[in-house]
Formats: sequence, structure tokens, C-alpha cells
Amino acid sequence: MEISTWEWTRISGLTSFFLLFLSILIGLLQSSPLIHPKWRGSKNLFHQLTGWVGFLLMIFHGVILIYDHYVSYQWYEIFVPFTSDEHRILTGIGTLSLYGVFLILLSSDMMKKVGYSIWKKIHLFSLPAYLLVLLHGFFIGSDTSTEAIPLMYAGTTLLLTGAYLAKRVSGKGKTKTAH
Ligand code: HEM
Repeated sequence: MEISTWEWTRISGLTSFFLLFLSILIGLLQSSPLIHPKWRGSKNLFHQLTGWVGFLLMIFHGVILIYDHYVSYQWYEIFVPFTSDEHRILTGIGTLSLYGVFLILLSSDMMKKVGYSIWKKIHLFSLPAYLLVLLHGFFIGSDTSTEAIPLMYAGTTLLLTGAYLAKRVSGKGKTKTAH
């Protein structure tokens, strides 16, 4: 069975979305009262791994569009936000999220160099980045017309909202956590 470039875009878009969700969820749970203290802090490797693999898939998801014969994006339409002829705003939002996620991952790997306070400020962009990606995937994706994909979007958003609120209510979001 041959998989078309358009199908690869959809598969990689959805997979990277899910990995980004997992990475943020694990990040929120690391210092959450929902998790037994014994298990907190042990998820950092998985948090980073899902983030980086998701990011590589995001690049694949965008770059493969250059090779699609049906829409055929130019490289700058993918890497320069809001320059694409097709879905200018929604594609631009995708590009901005890509750069945002890259900055978050890079600043985490260079935390000692950038310092805790700058790292924290950049890291706070994770949730807006998720919302941008959600907007992008929901409104541009062909799979939104299926039953399963909107359900997945609703489930991931509910879980992240719950984990975020649990962290805020317990006050853990305000204190410095060990990484
Ligand atoms: C680099 C810039 C990006 C471009 C040019 C781009 C382009 C596209 C296009 C053209 C589609 C429509 C495919 C379809 O019909 O289903 C799409 C869907 C999607 N994109 Fe992006 N995207 C970009 C970044 C991102 C990022 C950073 C994510 C993050 C995870 C993402 C996640 C998704 C998702 C989940 C879908 C829905 C797939 C579906 O419904 O089948 N995209 N994107």
C-alpha cells in the first residue's frame, strides 16, 4: 500500500500534535498533587523525548508539503509565517507554533546558560503553543470531519486544562521545581 505525501502530512501532523500534548501533560504532572510524590520528577526524560520527537515530526509535517503535487508549497511558505497562498493565516499559525516549540525545547536544553527566570518565561508559552496548534489542526485538517479526531482534540484539551488547574490550585505552579 502506497502512502501519499498528503497522507504523510496528516499522519505526521496528528502524531506530532499528540506528542506535543503528551509532553505538556507530563510536564504539568511532574509537580502536580495528582501524582504521588515518589513518582514526581521521574518523568523528565519522557517529557523531553516526546517534545523533541514531536518537534522533528512537525518539521517533517511541514517539509513534506514541498513535495506534494496537489498543493505544492514553496519552502518559504512553510518557514516564513503568513506567506502561503493556501490557508495563509492557519498555515502561518502552524509555522509560528513550530518556532515557539523549538524555542521552548532549546531553552530547556540550555537552561543553565539562559537562567531559570528566562527559561520559565519561555516555557510559559507551552500552553499558548498548544492552543495555536489546536486551532491550526482543527480548522485546516481534513480529519476534523471524522468523528474520532474532534473527540481526540476535546480529550487532550480537557486533560491539559485539568492538569493545569490542579497545579494552579495546589500552588505548585508558582514555586521553582527541580529539573
Ligand atoms: C511548519 C508549518 C506548518 C505547515 C506548513 C502546516 C500545514 C498543514 C496543512 C496543509 C494541513 C492540512 C492537512 C490535511 O488536510 O489534513 C495541516 C494539518 C495539521 N497540522 Fe500542520 N502545518 C504546520 C505546522 C504544524 C505544527 C507545528 C503542528 C503541531 C503539532 C501541526 C499539526 C497539524 C495537525 C494536527 C493537522 C491536522 C491533520 C489532519 O486533520 O489530518 N502543524 N498542517
